[in-house]
Amino acid sequence: MDTKILLDAAKKFETPLYVYDLNSIEKQYNKLKENLNEIENFKIHFAVKSLSNISVLKYIKLLGAGIDAVSIEEVKISLKCGFSPNEIIYTPNGVDLDEIKEAFSLGVKLNLDSIESIRDFSKIYKNQSITVRINPGIYAGGNDKISVGHNKSKLGLSDDKIPELIKMEENREIKVTGLHIHTGSDILNNSDFEQGIKKVFSIAGKFKNVNTLDLGGGIKVAYFDGDSETDLYSYSKVIKTEIDLFKKVEGRDLKIIIEPGKFLVSSSGFFLTKVNNIKSTKEQDFVQVNSGFNHLVRPMLYGSHHDIINLSNPNDYKQEYDVVGYICEKDTFAENRLISKVSKNDILCFKNAGAYGFSMSSNYNSRIKPAEACILNGKVKKIRNKQDLRDILKGQIDIFKS
Ligand code: LLP
Repeated sequence: MDTKILLDAAKKFETPLYVYDLNSIEKQYNKLKENLNEIENFKIHFAVKSLSNISVLKYIKLLGAGIDAVSIEEVKISLKCGFSPNEIIYTPNGVDLDEIKEAFSLGVKLNLDSIESIRDFSKIYKNQSITVRINPGIYAGGNDKISVGHNKSKLGLSDDKIPELIKMEENREIKVTGLHIHTGSDILNNSDFEQGIKKVFSIAGKFKNVNTLDLGGGIKVAYFDGDSETDLYSYSKVIKTEIDLFKKVEGRDLKIIIEPGKFLVSSSGFFLTKVNNIKSTKEQDFVQVNSGFNHLVRPMLYGSHHDIINLSNPNDYKQEYDVVGYICEKDTFAENRLISKVSKNDILCFKNAGAYGFSMSSNYNSRIKPAEACILNGKVKKIRNKQDLRDILKGQIDIFKS
């Protein structure tokens, strides 16, 4: 990324600021398509939870992707952005039947993940087509919080419920047209992907109406130079082998869907902050930036690594710093990190901030959320205003107002 354009964006729109490079999202999209081009019937559905700005979603629509939505709100945002209902896969978990009914009435594809909600749904809507999220029984992902495909996870239908699902289909209570898995995020080992893929293909053989398999997200991206990433070639090979095998045994083709969040947008996003102070103690030099875990929580929640570059002074000698925020509890972005010499008012850029950055931000400490901008063909445009105090007060009711 051209650092000058990021510095210009910081100057123009102030910091803190999220910036997304749309051309880089397109590159990632094409890279994924190219790597999986041996799979004939294949579609990418973008995981909205990772980045839900409407301008980004509209751009991703232009690329030809569909949507993976996990809440009724994500469904509605996607519809607003022009995705048609049949391009939206809605995968809720633990929601009220009313939310499922609402999604159904909007015409989006339902992907249910518990026998209880399938039972409830089928009592109202007889023999409707749905897809079902299976728990693959695999522990895989970058850390415990994002490893969601194991036996103790709340997500997905567990093995022991499959016979009941088959029965429901035989009794024409429900029609299972697809199966889905999402094992975890930041999955590096191809053997973990392979296990999950084999599992879902083997279950597909039990359902005669299944025509689609959705393999979820989880592709690991590199977070720093030399970091490991998912080998897409092997990933694609495993899928292709299973499709061919399935066709041989079952005599039918399957459509394949994947739902990347991080792969499409992580490395395309940059979070820009300003250095408020450099505070020295007996132990450390703290670089205090004008943000905190209210804006980028991944390092504190998951111990995630985000490379940090000093955009204002990129080529000076490197020094070790603890980069921290302004929140009233520990909010360390990076410890003992080597960064080109930092001074007050420098602009620091956090890399890999496109996925689960803004979308996980909050108003903790009553701090406003930052603005968002995008870069398209070398030009920077604002795509969200920063909040102001009215946003913090909106909806609050003053029962003492006279
Ligand atoms: N499909 C489903 C059903 C999912 O739950 C997710 C992510 C994805 C697809 C996309 O996964 P991805 O390709 O982005 O790994 N906040 C965490 C990541 C949580 C992922 C939750 N589900 C983080 O910042 O690392």
